[in-house]
Amino acid sequence: MSRRPIRIAVVGSGPAGVYAAAALTDRDEVCVDVIDRLPTPFGLVRYGVAPDHEKMKSVAVALRRVLEHDRVRFLGNVELGRDVSVEDLHRYYHAVVVANGAAVDRRLGIPGEDLPGSFSATEFVAWYSGHPDSALDQFTLTAETVIVVGVGNVAIDVARVLCKTADELRPTDIPDHVLAVLSHSRVREVSIIGRRGPVQAKFTTKELRELGELANADVIVRPDDLQLDEASEEAVKNDAVVRRNLDVLRGWSERTPEGRSRRLHIRFLLRPVGIIGQGAVTGMDLARGHLDGHGRANDTGKSMTLPAQMVLRSVGYRGIPMPGLPFDEEKGIIPNLSGRILRDGAPAPGEYVAGWIKRGPSGIIGTNKHDANETVRCLFEDIARLPSPEAREPDGVIDLLRQRRVRVVPWEGWEAIEALEIASGRARGARQVKLAERELLLAAALSREIAT
Ligand SMILES: Cc1cc2nc3c(=O)[nH]c(=O)nc-3n(C[C@H](O)[C@H](O)[C@H](O)COP(=O)(O)OP(=O)(O)OC[C@H]3O[C@@H](n4cnc5c(N)ncnc54)[C@H](O)[C@@H]3O)c2cc1C
Ligand SMILES: NC(=O)c1ccc[n+]([C@@H]2O[C@H](COP(=O)([O-])OP(=O)(O)OC[C@H]3O[C@@H](n4cnc5c(N)ncnc54)[C@H](OP(=O)(O)O)[C@@H]3O)[C@@H](O)[C@H]2O)c1
Repeated sequence: MSRRPIRIAVVGSGPAGVYAAAALTDRDEVCVDVIDRLPTPFGLVRYGVAPDHEKMKSVAVALRRVLEHDRVRFLGNVELGRDVSVEDLHRYYHAVVVANGAAVDRRLGIPGEDLPGSFSATEFVAWYSGHPDSALDQFTLTAETVIVVGVGNVAIDVARVLCKTADELRPTDIPDHVLAVLSHSRVREVSIIGRRGPVQAKFTTKELRELGELANADVIVRPDDLQLDEASEEAVKNDAVVRRNLDVLRGWSERTPEGRSRRLHIRFLLRPVGIIGQGAVTGMDLARGHLDGHGRANDTGKSMTLPAQMVLRSVGYRGIPMPGLPFDEEKGIIPNLSGRILRDGAPAPGEYVAGWIKRGPSGIIGTNKHDANETVRCLFEDIARLPSPEAREPDGVIDLLRQRRVRVVPWEGWEAIEALEIASGRARGARQVKLAERELLLAAALSREIAT
């Protein structure tokens, strides 16, 4: 006996959305539409993972298999809140799984944050990743000295890209306009600044270690910055990652710089208090801290000013409210219980959430698999009680988008984009070179559009 088809809309084709789609296809009666505001799939795997992390980017191979499943459909260039509403989705689907990530940067909340020359790492990552929302000329890299605030893996990514030569990045998928700017980069000194100590840093050892392998930069760590308090000594004993990080940093603190053309400083216990400059960034005021024995930093009363012409604030991401959905402003997430969206404290029928917008902006790609599986388990528990949609035809939503003149990019449209990128890669000796402009992406996908 054939069962009624259950139609699910997944919003977001990043790891969380795609892992949710994969788990959903475990049940034969489920058909999934994966909607993304961009013409391209894979979220931060395409627009976050650093271009020189080719191995990590290859996770896209597994994600694409899911989007090629015959009960999964990719609908690119469709934005929830602009092209379709949550209400529309309820009309066409039994349930909605929201997996739209956490797209914007957290703020430092200090004077000078908006001076020209002060950027978020989010902006820099979007630019070097060729995100279509990023202006091509947003970065010029005429600064000689750059401060990166924050000691997480994103800070490491942006510092590494700043320290690499254009030739080192040429074989990657980095867009041509970014490569051109990098080849004229004047950057000589990069300082990564942590407000607490080395033990409290968020980076992982593999990513940290890579900085020591930079052909073009000496890594400089001051032995004084590696002094530990009791809580830190305890953490070193109990946490292997912390121990390994500290070993790496201590090794660097004993090295003599070899006179490479760039210098990468990693500094701790410096709290940003202001970005300074008349009309453009010229430096940053920092308060010197000391650890209070519990992993927190107190000011010592001493301060210093570091010169810099560019500041990258890499202090984490945050989710943004989505029209028609509840939002927890404090946590920057959609309120939920194990993935069931809560409206006024109660699970909303047919509404689920996965990934960074469910739990906050932390965790690696794989973390989203467990996270999405948990959400889909809840959906399957509720499956017999899901509200039936008014519209029964699977193409109803396509008709609606056509009426609204949305240029939907289907999977074949993405394949056309990819083919073009691979062809331009060949000309540069790279596996693939990203197209960065939305209109170029749409033009490449145009021949395969569902609706015009
Ligand atoms: C700079 C950076 C580098 C990283 N590097 C690594 C790494 O090397 N290795 C690793 O394991 N992890 C890495 N991570 C972490 C990893 O990328 C995240 O854990 C993961 O991408 C989160 O998945 P997500 O699906 O929740 O969000 P995302 O990947 O952000 O996907 C969200 C998707 O939703 C879409 N979307 C947003 N709003 C809408 C809307 N209104 N309508 C329709 N679609 C919408 C977006 O276009 C996007 O495609 C990195 C993170 C960052 C920020
Ligand atoms: N290769 C990879 O696997 C990879 C690459 C990139 C990203 N990721 C993952 O993506 C997630 C996000 O990474 P992320 O680096 O953006 O965030 P993160 O790991 O949360 O690091 C944020 C950093 O910013 C600091 N910070 C926060 N507020 C600050 C303030 N007001 N002033 C000064 N410093 C401040 C934090 O210090 P405190 O601890 O003191 O708050 C922390 O050092 C992480 O889970 C990360 O592992 C993984």
